[in-house]
Amino acid sequence: MTDLIGLHGIGLEVQRPVRTRILQPLSLTVEVGTSLAVVGPSGAGKSTLASIIGALQPASEGSYDFDGQRVELFGPRDRSRFRAANIGFVFQHALLIDERNAWRNVALGQVDPAVPPARVEERSREALDRVGLGGIADRGAALLSGGERQRVAVARAVVKQPRLIIADEPTGSLDQRTGEAVLDLLFSLPDSGTTLIIVTHDHRAADMADRCIEIVDGELVA
Ligand SMILES: Nc1ncnc2c1ncn2[C@@H]1O[C@H](COP(=O)(O)OP(=O)(O)O)[C@@H](O)[C@H]1O
Ligand SMILES: [Mg+2]
Repeated sequence: MTDLIGLHGIGLEVQRPVRTRILQPLSLTVEVGTSLAVVGPSGAGKSTLASIIGALQPASEGSYDFDGQRVELFGPRDRSRFRAANIGFVFQHALLIDERNAWRNVALGQVDPAVPPARVEERSREALDRVGLGGIADRGAALLSGGERQRVAVARAVVKQPRLIIADEPTGSLDQRTGEAVLDLLFSLPDSGTTLIIVTHDHRAADMADRCIEIVDGELVA
């Protein structure tokens, strides 16, 4: 199997307001088309690791290889280009624009300006079909339930067919049953070659993942 991600000695120390070590240097590989769960107590550094892998912020040390690209060498502009091309995000809150309907929210994830508007709408509606929401594509986001909103967020993350999906506590605000539907959806992605990294407190999610790592006090412990 090919690695999508190779982290070597990746860590984070911030200098402001005081010098603080957030993440001890860690090494980790993630194979293409697999799922990885990241678990650990609150404040351990899970979201920080996810944000470094998602190129939302740079590490302060170490090297980060993503399919042959040296992400640690990227400046802010290259990082944002890299994110747009390769990574879809799902967070605890769906962060939809309530004034727009479902498909127009999904369309926000289709960031490639070369895709013509008619194709953007078509792809957005297809992505909603895949998350089981084809019937409510034209419904205003404000009218959707919590579980529907999170499925729209998943559709928005996958519409550009990214190599990697990073989901940071995606079921954190959902009840058990709607949470399960969102997990089933996310864990179906690796079948189509998309790699999944999920930060979670949810035992079910950790059980569903191909691999599970634990972060405690900024350190990879298992
Ligand atoms: N840029 C930063 N500057 C200072 N502290 C930070 C920064 N980023 C994260 N932290 C701190 O690092 C710790 C880990 O945060 P986080 O990764 O969000 O934990 P988790 O997601 O495991 O709950 C927290 O104490 C947080 O306040
Ligand atoms: Mg977090």
